[in-house]
Amino acid sequence: MNASPIDISATESLLAFWRDAGVDACYGEAAVDRSYVEPPALKAVAKATASVTQLQTHDAQNDALGDARRLAAGANTLEELAAAVAAFEGCALRGMGARQSVFGRGAADAPVLLIGESPGADETQPFGGRTGKLLDRMLAAAGLTDKVFIINTVFWRPPGNRPPTPAEQAVCAPFVERAMAIMRPRAVLLLGAASARSVLQTEDSIMKMRGQWRDWRLAEGDVSAPALPTLHPAFLLRQPQAKRQVWADLLSLAARVDETPG
Ligand code: URA
Repeated sequence: MNASPIDISATESLLAFWRDAGVDACYGEAAVDRSYVEPPALKAVAKATASVTQLQTHDAQNDALGDARRLAAGANTLEELAAAVAAFEGCALRGMGARQSVFGRGAADAPVLLIGESPGADETQPFGGRTGKLLDRMLAAAGLTDKVFIINTVFWRPPGNRPPTPAEQAVCAPFVERAMAIMRPRAVLLLGAASARSVLQTEDSIMKMRGQWRDWRLAEGDVSAPALPTLHPAFLLRQPQAKRQVWADLLSLAARVDETPG
């Protein structure tokens, strides 16, 4: 607010009066406590609280990952691995309405490990619904029916059929890796972006990756397998013209299985 000229001249004459009267310092009406430390701003408090929560979440995730590794390492067959998955309580999806864990289907000695995204609603086995029917038809046409064991990147269905989050996939990864170490497959087929990205630890798009063989090597032990990303069958239900590309990938997979010694 600007002071009017009248106020200024009144203030000037009042100050001159005080100066002439010997007043040379100004004090407020109330005493000021200079030892008082202002509390941190609310924003800073919120930030600190968020970091503590993040640390706690991080700790919980590390604990869950430790449990997953321990349980997975104790399994020596796919059957034991299925039981280990069922006993694992560290995946957040468990508490989001999934009724049961969904582990795998197929022949335990199959030469191909096929990894999908996540179980669908009401599926009691991987690809047990409409998407699976299309997948099974394509596998049969490529002569691969009895040559695959199928799992997913997570073992509980996400709510609302949403894709699993990277954190949910990461905590389940020890079981996926253990399946690979137990089976030692001749080849791995990765169905869709969420599967390929999680397994191969990449941000590449599925369109860039599909049809290109990559090396999937486990961090521990001397276990690796050629892995082929392809399009997800659910995508094919929406875009049937893309079946051509998946068909080419399945033929490449079948040839790889035939040419690799068992
Ligand atoms: N069902 C599965 O088991 N996996 C998928 O990725 C989709 C449906």
